Amino acid sequence: MTLALAVTGRGLVDPTEPVIRADDDALGRGRAVFETLRVYAGVPFRLSQHLERLVRSSAVVGIRQPDVDELERLAMLALGSAGVHDAALRLYWTAGPPAGDPVGVVLVAAIPDWIEPARARGQRLLSLLSPRRSAPWLLAGTKSTSYAAHMAAEMEAKARGFDDALFDDADGVVLEGPVTNIWWRAGSTLSTPGLELGILAGETRAALIELAGSLGYDVTEGAFMLDAVLRDAEEAFTSSSVREVMPVVGIDERTFARGPAAAELQTALRQLAGSPGV
Ligand SMILES: Cc1ncc(COP(=O)(O)O)c(C=O)c1O
Repeated sequence: MTLALAVTGRGLVDPTEPVIRADDDALGRGRAVFETLRVYAGVPFRLSQHLERLVRSSAVVGIRQPDVDELERLAMLALGSAGVHDAALRLYWTAGPPAGDPVGVVLVAAIPDWIEPARARGQRLLSLLSPRRSAPWLLAGTKSTSYAAHMAAEMEAKARGFDDALFDDADGVVLEGPVTNIWWRAGSTLSTPGLELGILAGETRAALIELAGSLGYDVTEGAFMLDAVLRDAEEAFTSSSVREVMPVVGIDERTFARGPAAAELQTALRQLAGSPGV
């Protein structure tokens, strides 16, 4: 549910108002970029890092660079208007109509209520083939709104009785989920696919890498075969801004017991997010 809406050049707008023109290339060609982040006690977690990623994504999609100060002002305006402590903040930056200007849209939405029950239960993932985003024109590391293939993968996983998809490439190398980064643990080593695979550089992934050491884990990043993960991992979980650290209790036919790392990292992430200046 949208709680507040703000738009570049307009400020606060009624959340039911149309704000994108029908000839905006965001609609016709999916040429827009976006960010989703969590708001903890009224403060967006790592807003400046998300804005920097929005700028990088805009460059890859070929959209004029957004004015990050204006988007930040709009974000604070929308959050003030929504008047909620915990929320999801979504920022969109469109290509705009032909010869027209890009549009920046800031939405404040409620945190989906399926997340905490799913965290308590753990999720089951289905591995699905995805081309490795090995070049800029395949939108490597880019958060564009051309996510229909990601959503179709999630639908496919659900249709087959799983909770979500996990992408691996044609060589069987593990990549990421449709909207998450993937992690697993063997002993005290946490592993996650490396950014050189063209996956999204998740801000939650970055925060967990910072936190792991203080919890006694070391982190390895790289190219890992799904077969080896299914054979060797003792625990698995995903990370994303809105879902945070989500335990994984199965990948394909392999089941995983709930382990300590996901729970410890989730607690540490909440503590970090509650600390000023992170
Ligand atoms: C493809 C993909 N990978 C990973 C993530 C996790 O990124 P973050 O932790 O910044 O939310 C997302 C977030 O939506 C995503 O879309």
